[in-house]
Amino acid sequence: MGFDQYHEPPDELPAETRTFARLCASLTEEAEAIGWYEQRLAVEQNATAHAVMSNAVGEEYKHFAMDLEFLLRQKPQWRAIAKGILFQEGDIVEHGEAAEEAADGDGDPTVEVTPSGPSLGIGSLKGRGL
Ligand SMILES: [Fe+2]
Repeated sequence: MGFDQYHEPPDELPAETRTFARLCASLTEEAEAIGWYEQRLAVEQNATAHAVMSNAVGEEYKHFAMDLEFLLRQKPQWRAIAKGILFQEGDIVEHGEAAEEAADGDGDPTVEVTPSGPSLGIGSLKGRGL
């Protein structure tokens, strides 16, 4: 069993930090699994095998999302930046820059970051019959 998630002596780290590191390692592993399934699904010709792996990758999506949510709950600044980027329409890099600036700008890492201006994604609702 490896302990590669630690870059400092584990016995010097608080339990909270060790847990955080474990979930970071788990998040990485879930992302790797998603990438592996993506490749396997791209080449699999057997329909049943494809269906089985399609089901399995859904589990990895769930695991990744749960790991991410746990980590974001531990780090308000990370959560604030993620809120400005995730599930937004438009330019990802633009949202990232705006979210980082907003989270850093007022010194309050718990501030909720929302995109401003034309990046609100309101335009994406047009034509949806809402
Ligand atoms: Fe998993």
